Amino acid sequence: EKILFVTSEAVPFIKTGGLADVAGTLPKYFDREKYDVRVILPKYACMKGEWKDKLQYRTHFEMQLAWRNMYVGILETEIDGIPFYFIDNEYYFSGGWPYEDIRWDIEKFAFFSRAVLSALPSIDFRPDIIHCHDWQAALVPVYLNDAFQSNPFYQNIKTVMTIHNLRFQGIYDKNIIRDIIGISDSYFTPDKLEAYGDVNLLKGGIVYADRVTTVSDTYAEEIKTEFYGEKLNQLLQARSNVLSGIVNGIDYNIFNPETDIHLPYKFNTQNVTTEKAKNKVELQRQLGLREDPNVMMIGIVSRLTDQKGFDLIECVLDEICQDEVQIVVLGTGEERYENMFRYYAWKYAGKVSANIYYSDELSHKIYGSCDAFLMPSLFEPCGLSQIMSLRYGTIPIVRETGGLKDTVIPFNEFENSGTGFSFRNYNAHEMMATVRYAERIFYDQKEQWNNLVKRAMEADFSWNASAEKYEILYDHLLGWYWPRGE
Ligand code: GLC
Repeated sequence: EKILFVTSEAVPFIKTGGLADVAGTLPKYFDREKYDVRVILPKYACMKGEWKDKLQYRTHFEMQLAWRNMYVGILETEIDGIPFYFIDNEYYFSGGWPYEDIRWDIEKFAFFSRAVLSALPSIDFRPDIIHCHDWQAALVPVYLNDAFQSNPFYQNIKTVMTIHNLRFQGIYDKNIIRDIIGISDSYFTPDKLEAYGDVNLLKGGIVYADRVTTVSDTYAEEIKTEFYGEKLNQLLQARSNVLSGIVNGIDYNIFNPETDIHLPYKFNTQNVTTEKAKNKVELQRQLGLREDPNVMMIGIVSRLTDQKGFDLIECVLDEICQDEVQIVVLGTGEERYENMFRYYAWKYAGKVSANIYYSDELSHKIYGSCDAFLMPSLFEPCGLSQIMSLRYGTIPIVRETGGLKDTVIPFNEFENSGTGFSFRNYNAHEMMATVRYAERIFYDQKEQWNNLVKRAMEADFSWNASAEKYEILYDHLLGWYWPRGE
């Protein structure tokens, strides 16, 4: 089976969020004998130089889009045996960041989506399935249904639409967009691309894709309700016969406490207690925190947005800082949260460390040094950092939503089970009570805590299980499925 991933980002080339981790690493975990998985994304000027230098020119052509005639260049490279293709056009992809203002982004990714389809014959790859990720690729199933149907090359190509985050849909004024994206007027009705008077690209993808998936089972259920549905809940309900959830994994080679190059002291389940404490002291020294191997250190690595529950943290951070804890934050995002953490780092110097930037290296050090990881999301399609935390024996404290609910098993002190701490309601004091419960176990029930750490590290969220679920989905879609033996 030939599969093409269409995505706006993929590690190691370009990353603004979890989508990049998924699109860049999942392809490696398919059974290579049976599945030829390739990836296509834009060639951004803002990609890191070391990766840009690896891209090789393949071909170029001109493409008609609405009234415009556009240059489409194609570059390629290979990582771990996976071919990556890049759509080149300097007019669209020369910005300092993959995403700019929404009107421009819609034009840009419409161009990208159409260029992807147009490029297939010239790279000599006819996928059986095109697997589209998020709204930036959501026009692919629409274009495929429209302009490309008359060409036999494209007939019977199937599509999968994966929603990594329903919050972002690619919405804009219908009258402006319809001239730009070049599909016939008949598509701009409420049963197709139109939603509430505007154009909604993700909606188009959900309507026209053969299968719709999201990145955890719980989120797949949640988005059919009004609270999580982002105004598409009714459509998602209508599509529920083709909608399913497949939880993400992480790359267990990159996230491995035994071999992690960023950790001064590497560890496994046998020596995690002693080695993690040594990493902690190193990190405290590096970040100017009070050096103490015994203090409970709580990490936060996140985009600083409302989605991640920072208003809950804002509400009770002062109170939590009265406790015997240290807090280390890494990430960028909304200014109000960046400033909030800067303020607390000033107010509780030596106790709170605010690192308002992004660094792979520091993120690994946080996972490898902290005792707990706080992630009280309002909604969470999957969430990857709690999975990374588990891998490093850093106990997640999460709200029971989406992928957080599906990956963290609540600690039960009577049964000595579970892998983390969780609370149900989006309520700051419920979160604080849970943090304090974790503190109590950490300080007063060391043996319980150490068992918890061990169980967390033994939880398996490597990609293999998820990749197999995608394989089954692809097989079904192509009608090639027969039940697998044990
Ligand atoms: C988005 C979601 C996150 C998910 C990631 C990868 O960033 O917010 O929950 O883990 O996509 O699927």
